[in-house]
Amino acid sequence: MYQEQLNPTPYIETVKEPVLDYDTWLKQQPVKPSIWTKLLSLRPIEEEKDLVIDHTYDGIKELNNPVPAWFNFLFYGTMIFAAAYLFYYHIGGYGDLQDQEYENEMAKAKIEKAAYLEKSANTIDENSVKFDDTPAVLEDGKTIFNTNCVVCHGDKGQGIIGPNLADDYWLHGGNINSVFKTIKYGVPEKGMISWEKNLNPKQISAVTNFILSLKGTNPAGAKAPQGEKYEAKNPKDNEMKVLKDSVNKADVTKK
Ligand code: HEC
Repeated sequence: MYQEQLNPTPYIETVKEPVLDYDTWLKQQPVKPSIWTKLLSLRPIEEEKDLVIDHTYDGIKELNNPVPAWFNFLFYGTMIFAAAYLFYYHIGGYGDLQDQEYENEMAKAKIEKAAYLEKSANTIDENSVKFDDTPAVLEDGKTIFNTNCVVCHGDKGQGIIGPNLADDYWLHGGNINSVFKTIKYGVPEKGMISWEKNLNPKQISAVTNFILSLKGTNPAGAKAPQGEKYEAKNPKDNEMKVLKDSVNKADVTKK
C-alpha cells in the first residue's frame, strides 16, 4: 500500500483492436496444408496462375504441378532395385536363379523323402510286412541271407542244420507274415535265433521276400521237406490291399 503510494502503477489505456470483416480475417489466418495436399505436393490454389504452362488446347490449360516426392522415391527406387537385382542374380551370380532353386528344393525333398521312407520302413512288423519282389529288395535280401543265414540254411536255401526254405513245407507257416515272424523272433529252443537285434525291420522284410522268392527253385542237395505244406497261393495276396468287406455277399443273399 505504502509502496503503491510512493510508486503508483501508471494507468494503461486499453488499445482497441480494429474490427475486421470476415474476408480480411480469413486471409490473416495461417493456412495449414492438409496431409493430402502435402502428400500430393499440391500447390495452393492462389499459385495456380504461376503454374500454367504456356499452351492451351480448346481453351484447356495445363498446370505444371510437381511430381510428389514419395512417387519419385519409389520410381528411382525401382531403378536402383533393378540394377542391384541384375547384378546380384545375373552378373555376379551370387543368388540362385529359378532353375537352381528348383533343383535345390528337389534335392532337399529327396533327402526328406529318403528319411521318411527309412523311418516308415523301420516300423514294418509281422502284420504290416508286404510282398515285394522288386530286384533291389531281393538283392538286399540275398546279401543279408548270404552273410547271416547260409551257414544253417545253405547258399540256395536248400537247408543244412536249418530246414529247407525253398520248398512248399514250413514248420512255422509259409505266408509272408509267418516267415517274417519266425525270422524276427526266431525259434531259439530249436537253434534258430531271433534276428530282431541284428537286423532292422527293413532288412528282415527284405530277407523274408528273398526267401519267398526261393520257392520252387529246387536247389541241389535239398533237405527233405519238414512241416506242413503251405498252399502255394499267389504271394501277391500278401500285398497291402484295400480291405474288403469281410461279409461274404453270397452268404447274405442266399437265405
Ligand atoms: C544257427 C543256425 C541258423 C541260422 C544262422 C539261421 N537259421 Fe533259420 N532256422 C534254423 C533252424 C534250426 C530252424 C528250424 C527251427 C525249428 O525246427 O523250429 C530254422 C528255421 C527258419 C525258418 C522257418 C522255416 C519253417 O519251416 O518254418 C526261417 C524262415 C528261417 N529259419 C530263416 C532264417 C533266416 C532269414 C536266417 C538269417 C537271417 C536264418 N534263418 C538263420 C537255424 C538257423
